Amino acid sequence: MSTLSSAPTHAGIPAVPDATAAPFDPALLARLATELFAQAPGSPPFAPHGVQAPVNIAPPASPLAGPAGFGQGVPGTAVPQGLAPGLNLAPSSPHQVLSLGNRAPALAPAAQAGNGVPDKLLSALPAYEPRLGGAVVGVPQSAPATAPVAPASAGYYFLDRSHGHPSAGGAPDAAAPAPSAAPQYYFVHAVELPNGFVTPPKGDPHAIHRPGGAAQAAPFDVHAVRRDFPILQERINGRQLIWFDNAATTHKPQSVIDRISEFYRRENSNIHRAAHELAARATDAYEGARERVRAFINAPDVNEVIFVRGTTEAINLVAKSWGGKHVGAGDEIIVSHLEHHANIVPWQQLAAEKGAKLRVIPVDDSGQVLLEEYAKLLNERTRIVAVTQVSNALGTVTPVREIVELARSVGARTLVDGAQSVSHMRTDVQALGADFFVFSGHKVFGPTGIGVVWGKREVLEDMPPWQGGGNMIADVTFEKTVFQPLPNTFEAGTGNIADAVGLGAAIDYVNRIGIENIAGYEHALLEYGMRRLGDIPGLRLIGTAAHKASVMSFVLDGYTTEAVGKALNQEGIAVRTGHHCAQPILRRFGVETTVRPSLAFYNTFDEIDCLIAVVGRLAAQRGRR
Ligand code: ALA
Repeated sequence: MSTLSSAPTHAGIPAVPDATAAPFDPALLARLATELFAQAPGSPPFAPHGVQAPVNIAPPASPLAGPAGFGQGVPGTAVPQGLAPGLNLAPSSPHQVLSLGNRAPALAPAAQAGNGVPDKLLSALPAYEPRLGGAVVGVPQSAPATAPVAPASAGYYFLDRSHGHPSAGGAPDAAAPAPSAAPQYYFVHAVELPNGFVTPPKGDPHAIHRPGGAAQAAPFDVHAVRRDFPILQERINGRQLIWFDNAATTHKPQSVIDRISEFYRRENSNIHRAAHELAARATDAYEGARERVRAFINAPDVNEVIFVRGTTEAINLVAKSWGGKHVGAGDEIIVSHLEHHANIVPWQQLAAEKGAKLRVIPVDDSGQVLLEEYAKLLNERTRIVAVTQVSNALGTVTPVREIVELARSVGARTLVDGAQSVSHMRTDVQALGADFFVFSGHKVFGPTGIGVVWGKREVLEDMPPWQGGGNMIADVTFEKTVFQPLPNTFEAGTGNIADAVGLGAAIDYVNRIGIENIAGYEHALLEYGMRRLGDIPGLRLIGTAAHKASVMSFVLDGYTTEAVGKALNQEGIAVRTGHHCAQPILRRFGVETTVRPSLAFYNTFDEIDCLIAVVGRLAAQRGRR
């Protein structure tokens, strides 16, 4: 845009002076811009200032969404007077072309900091235009590989096809079934305000990218995938990093890094509460992430997806809230011997507080749970069964479906810890049948500090909030507080908005590659790694179940696990050594610690060969030291 005279005009804005009359008066320019962008399209010019519609709008089905927006028994009626209907919910400004113009130079240096692979130019593109994500760098696509473009109208940031997320690539799947309880995006749906006014829909709520099946997916290309993870180019002790510590945390593709950066550059705001455009952008992005999680785990209702810090917080939430209400003296809680401390300690605390009993499903010598022993533990006192889907220390894939089914036969609730499974296999909470499924974002290529509790609506609605404060309330007096419906009931305070958005981008990324592609490739890697490790003299594999994912724990005769870890680190190979926050299961196998290489889909057979070479050398040197 070269002259001001070509700028759009808007009712109520004073006429623009002659554009050729340079130099511009910066003060006038600033005032005009402020007035222009203060106008909501279609809203009356110069609407009264200082009035806001209440936010945190209760969903239509909520008991709080009465004609006046509040259910029976809510003290007071908080509907503000003098409201200009819908003003705060309508997009308040078109794209600010001048600010867009400023973006490219500011971003240029970031493009140079790409992943350093030979096709640098392509790799750098996402940094120039985050909306392109990784789609142009040769990542296999699980949906037709159509590079997305910014919406032609470029009218409203939040009206594109991504529900608040720059597209991560791949075309939206128009055939994807609509969610049974679609989220409400302020800018794309009609929204009923508490005062009864209905804001009109503002565009077409195109489906976001859905998880694709294996049939849709392109062949898996690990080298293309690796180019998306800049950290894999790091050099450690003069060697290229080999990351075999994926069970502890996974690395982040460029599209996730870009998405978080984009959030802070262009959307950063608290959600729901404010009446300004950035709050709307942030809200759309956050709720867009929630919908991505819903689709990723095939939950029936987006409001059943609750954001928390991670798996540990998720289990604590369920133990404190559900357990606090439903577990009493003499009741029983069942966990398996495989559990991470995060799925032991909160239940142990609950049991101690309530006088309940913690019972443990034993495992066989391969590290698989003994279903017949489990069946014997179940009885009418069993309140909840909490089990991991994949053991973080051994890699065992447990028969969670059977475990859930048996628990249901005695009327017990179930929680599945998906921290170690969610990045390795398809998650379908409806097929699983559990009451709760929990996982952490950082284990699935998303950021740290964000995780998820999914729970069945009727179970969640029968639980008290576990933390109180802002965001989770509908109305507060000194006498009484009325809580927000799901999911806000369990999201007190300002959440980790940016990292939820980052998790949404990680899910997009995984969907593009296809979880079945990931699972198939990783399975081949795991079989190869287990076989090669098993051939090393004096090496004992800990965890040899027939069904395993990612983890290859071992101990090596003549060496502490720490010494093995250090030797590997010398060669740039990162593994975790120690007890892995799973002491009971390691002790079951007579060890306190293991060396734990753990795989992700960006690992290669060559990398496993490097691991084998170092461990094999150590084994060969045994006794000669
Ligand atoms: N739970 C993570 C691990 O297994 C930290 O290493």
